[in-house]
Amino acid sequence: MATPTSAPQPPPPIDETPTWAALTAHRDGLAGTSLRHLFAADPDRAGSLTLEAAGLRVDLSKNWVTAETISLLSELARAAGLEERRDQMFAGTPVNESEGRAALHTALRLPAGERLEVDGADVGADVHIELSRMAAFADAVRSGRWTGATGEPIRAVVNIGIGGSDLGPAMAYHALRPWSDRRLTFRYVSNIDPSALHEALVDLDPETTLFIVVSKTFGTIETLTNAGSARRWLVDDLGEDAVPRHFVAVSTNADRVEAFGIDPTNMFGFWDWVGGRYSVGSAVGLSLMVAIGPDGFDEFLAGMREVDEHFRSAPLEANLPVLLGLLGIWYTNFLGAETVAVLPYADHLARFPAYLQQLDMESNGKGVDRWGRRVGYATGPIVWGEPGTNGQHAFYQLIHQGTRLIPCDMIGFAQATDPIGDHHDRLMANLLAQTEALAFGQDSDDPNRFFTGNRPTTTILAEQLDPATLGRLIALYEHKVFTMGTVWGINSFDQFGVELGKVLASAIEGELPTDTPLAHDASTNAAIAWYRAHRHPVS
Ligand code: F6P
Repeated sequence: MATPTSAPQPPPPIDETPTWAALTAHRDGLAGTSLRHLFAADPDRAGSLTLEAAGLRVDLSKNWVTAETISLLSELARAAGLEERRDQMFAGTPVNESEGRAALHTALRLPAGERLEVDGADVGADVHIELSRMAAFADAVRSGRWTGATGEPIRAVVNIGIGGSDLGPAMAYHALRPWSDRRLTFRYVSNIDPSALHEALVDLDPETTLFIVVSKTFGTIETLTNAGSARRWLVDDLGEDAVPRHFVAVSTNADRVEAFGIDPTNMFGFWDWVGGRYSVGSAVGLSLMVAIGPDGFDEFLAGMREVDEHFRSAPLEANLPVLLGLLGIWYTNFLGAETVAVLPYADHLARFPAYLQQLDMESNGKGVDRWGRRVGYATGPIVWGEPGTNGQHAFYQLIHQGTRLIPCDMIGFAQATDPIGDHHDRLMANLLAQTEALAFGQDSDDPNRFFTGNRPTTTILAEQLDPATLGRLIALYEHKVFTMGTVWGINSFDQFGVELGKVLASAIEGELPTDTPLAHDASTNAAIAWYRAHRHPVS
């Protein structure tokens, strides 16, 4: 008699594993220990907990960990199947189970000629065909060979997109401005607030402006609204025939691009296996490539690739993204931290925390695991931050003397990208001083001047903020997020949580210009009524 086949049993929730229990006991055993004690007890601590790989120096020693913590956390990662799932991700297995898709952003940085076959297609070859098209276009714009409809060279590039179609290229452009062609102006428009588009276009000349409309789906209301208004701005001045010289699109949806009125020959493609927040290395980064040139973009991808290779091959105990992720698990699940601050000591990285907010919070802000079970433990932390030293004069007070645990990532560079006098030494002195003050505090008889110390930081240093280093930092955090999601047993690659608000907004939008009866809750009804009474009709 045939035995009925049964669905594979889901693994036990991670918080019911023996390693989780061992970590809980280990945490209890460390209670009362401070960073001062840990440093005093182990003269080799700084050396043994500082790792250098892929051009990054990561000092974990000012964290509440011992060698045993790292070993237990690595065991937890193995229990969660991190190595298997990592290999599946790199191989193109549909690790985004809820949408039946691969998450193959690592294929975007494969070296030319390296095959990766997924469903019969060589995705490595596809990636390089698109990169070559982008490079030809970027070179044409940069050299002035690509002109506007009146024959003028392009002087301003306006990227219209939102979420992953904005944050990646906007963050990277700002980070790499010293490497950009300064004859060109770059603007990033994301918000549907008309002020965003107005401010972007107010001093631009349609004859010399190029729009890159970026949307994976080409169905995102903010992007289509902004792109439609930008198109009218152009057509009012130069006429309909000018559109093909001033609009290009980046999307996975050629039909919608064409329906919008952009010639598909002016479209750069990517694939459904590239998640929006993982897409800056694809054609979504076209504005960045125009800014820093195809060679700079190659270096950016090469930096990502270095970290990919490290993540794939280094043992978990010496694997930078894995260790950052496991520290995140340690603080979130065993020590009750709700947040992580990312504090780049580089003004060019001002948008990096915002970029990481989407990367981390959209990926790991989930309450259901991959087997459909509601999780019984905390998942994605609240990510925030601002560049140092600015933050020192704003919110660091709370990090130093407040009542909350806020692990901080401090990011700094050995060399200034725009050196002036001794600014850079002063900047870096501040980064280093903050990590020292946070870890070791200061004794004082005056309670107001007493610093407890024992506040954890991870210091990430690199030679210089250049295209390769930015690529390394992005991949470092991508794989950190993946590590955490895998330990939690969640799918880091979908984002159903953003849908409900979109559906409700679309219903309310139709109600605003009317006086139809409202059937929302009392608060929403009253707010709509107030808005109806005060709004200006659309002109
Ligand atoms: O609403 C969230 C989201 O889907 C993000 O995941 C995505 O990066 C963004 O919207 C933009 O989507 P698209 O590139 O399809 O316009």
